[in-house]
Amino acid sequence: MWFFYSPGIIHGEDAIDFLEFIPGEKVFVVTDKILEELGYLKKLTEKLDQFGKKYMIFNDVQPDPHEDDVLTGRQQCIDYAPDLVIALGGGSVIDTAKVVWCLYEFPDIVLDDIYPFNAELYKLGNKSKLVAIPTTSGTGAEITNVSVISRFLDGIWKKHFFLHKTIIPSYAIVDPIFPLGMPPKLTLDTAFDALAHSLEGMTSLWKNEFSYAMALKAIELIFKYLPIVAKDSKDIEARDYLHQAATMAGLAFGNSQAQYAHTLGHSWGSVFHVPHGRAVGIFLPYVLQFCLNNPDEADKTTDLLGKIAKQLGWANWDEDTKKSAKTVIKKVKELQKEVGFPFNLKELGTTKEDYDKNIDVLVNLCFEDSTSVLGPRPANTAEFKKLYEFAFEGKDVDF
Ligand SMILES: [Fe+2]
Repeated sequence: MWFFYSPGIIHGEDAIDFLEFIPGEKVFVVTDKILEELGYLKKLTEKLDQFGKKYMIFNDVQPDPHEDDVLTGRQQCIDYAPDLVIALGGGSVIDTAKVVWCLYEFPDIVLDDIYPFNAELYKLGNKSKLVAIPTTSGTGAEITNVSVISRFLDGIWKKHFFLHKTIIPSYAIVDPIFPLGMPPKLTLDTAFDALAHSLEGMTSLWKNEFSYAMALKAIELIFKYLPIVAKDSKDIEARDYLHQAATMAGLAFGNSQAQYAHTLGHSWGSVFHVPHGRAVGIFLPYVLQFCLNNPDEADKTTDLLGKIAKQLGWANWDEDTKKSAKTVIKKVKELQKEVGFPFNLKELGTTKEDYDKNIDVLVNLCFEDSTSVLGPRPANTAEFKKLYEFAFEGKDVDF
């Protein structure tokens, strides 16, 4: 038995107008101050005014949201007692809204009660629904069942994953008007996050055919439209397809999870505060090389990557499988080069001294990450260390 979960998805230009038909008259809006300053919140509130909905704004979400901020949002939501919660923002905002929504519906629980086997949470949605409106194209937060919230432990802010199938938003409004204003670096970071969601969703140990279908289309769209958006950020058609691709990639990994590019990227991000997509996007080709070098012939990841290359038209159908699989890595690197995405960790400005000082912490954090058990080729301490080393120096993985 397997599952494929998804919100109701409304996409394309003017998707925001569907808010008129979503029940709920009293709306708690979760967002951040930057989106308010950029005028995106106004685009939403104008629609809420037009559709006769009352609203209250919670705009205190920070990047990599902290537990305390979530609890403040929860209290304000309880006090306002909405019948609809709307998240307008990137991954941090949507993740905050998911847990605020859950903690509002269940005022007697705490954050740690949000875990996969909590049967009580299946009643979520009695008081209100959650609408997610992503303003970036990549995190997939609008469709996933996880919320990443930081908690201060052992001297650092550690990312904690709160998971439950019911915290998937009720609706995702995927309207290209919102990512249209993303700055170039954010566009690249989030797009490579989406690419990692696709390729990791296809190769994780929880891979499945539904995820595969979504991921394959997402990869095709990212390779076609990211270079266009990188040249012309205001190309609304390309933005629309890239936005759809990010949601498809989210559906892929949201239903099959990710593997080591996320494991390594989460740890690197926790220690060096690098944007999630940038870290994950850098690790992606190194992790795929590591998978291709798997000496265990029972693992069929090479065959899978070879098939992906053929289905995307990157290799002929009669091409040798391993050669064809290597094409996927070559294509990822070519895309990085074409759009100006960094190739290695050194380019992020981390010194060798800082890297050496933190390598043991980085590796330990890998083993604490939920994705660390989903790689098709299990890595041990020495291999995680070497993966960091090769990604830092920009060397092809030969082990
Ligand atoms: Fe990600």
